Amino acid sequence: MTPRPIIIDTDPGTDDAIAIWLALASPELDVLGITAVAGNVPLALTERNARQLCELAGRSDMKVFAGCARPLLRPLVTAEEFHGENGLGSTDLPQPTMPLQPGHAVDWLVDTLMAAGDGEITLCPLGPLTNIAMALVKEPRILPKVREVVLMGGGFFEGGNITPAAEFNIYCDPHAAYTVFSSGVKLTMMPLDVTHQARTNRDRIAAVRAIGTPVGVAAAAMMTSHGAHEEADRDKDGGPLHDPCVIAYLLEPNLFGGRLCNVQVETGSEVTMGMTVVDWWGVTDGAKNCTVMNRIDADGYFALITERLARL
Ligand code: RIB
Ligand code: CA
Repeated sequence: MTPRPIIIDTDPGTDDAIAIWLALASPELDVLGITAVAGNVPLALTERNARQLCELAGRSDMKVFAGCARPLLRPLVTAEEFHGENGLGSTDLPQPTMPLQPGHAVDWLVDTLMAAGDGEITLCPLGPLTNIAMALVKEPRILPKVREVVLMGGGFFEGGNITPAAEFNIYCDPHAAYTVFSSGVKLTMMPLDVTHQARTNRDRIAAVRAIGTPVGVAAAAMMTSHGAHEEADRDKDGGPLHDPCVIAYLLEPNLFGGRLCNVQVETGSEVTMGMTVVDWWGVTDGAKNCTVMNRIDADGYFALITERLARL
């Protein structure tokens, strides 16, 4: 079986970390490179964190690029309260020795996509969509080269986690999200409606910690940190593990369920800025531009994560 070529665009990020490790542990995927974007923490940290995560997984060969340091139009909003000052919770990984790749991530995205065949590469954004939007604006001819964009972001019945209306990745750069959602690219969205069903409860954290490897121990620490801050409902055990849903979907799509809908991104009102307006009931004739996931087999999801992280 030929591994599926993917590019991970990310703002690590404790949940991004586990998504990256899940991808690196899975032979079904060929991670062509990792592009860092400002989001949870500033770019200087997200690109460093990405390199640290690759090295801990024994992948110092991975190409990591630094992308956009701020959203297209709005000032950068970060999320240290969820991910800690360093972006990786309470986990201090060794300083990276692997190099950051020269050049801008957006240029590498464009060059890599333009050199690929039509429908060849899957883009996996786990943070604000700034890099992806910039690539689409810089070189619209990349559009047919993209097999699919599978992203973590948005929310509809579940509302928002950074404002009552908006989820962080979309809110952080709503104009980039508008650009991507209106581009015509094939989209699959993992919103809060699905990620809030996947919580890092004590048993799930213990299973990952029991792996006993540096990645397993670090992942358990990040899941614990995530749960302590991230939308941890008082009546639920643990916090939602958002970003690995993107990678898990590529590996085991049957873990998820959803519906093809029209999705628009609000950029007009400060009250609803960054809201993903999902026509779930089909009450408009808007183009069905996005498969919106709202169901997950949470036990199967964490079993997959645990099994795969044990391989690193
Ligand atoms: O709202 C959750 C998303 O915002 C996740 O991608 C998390 O890492 C943060 O970037
Ligand atoms: Ca993220």
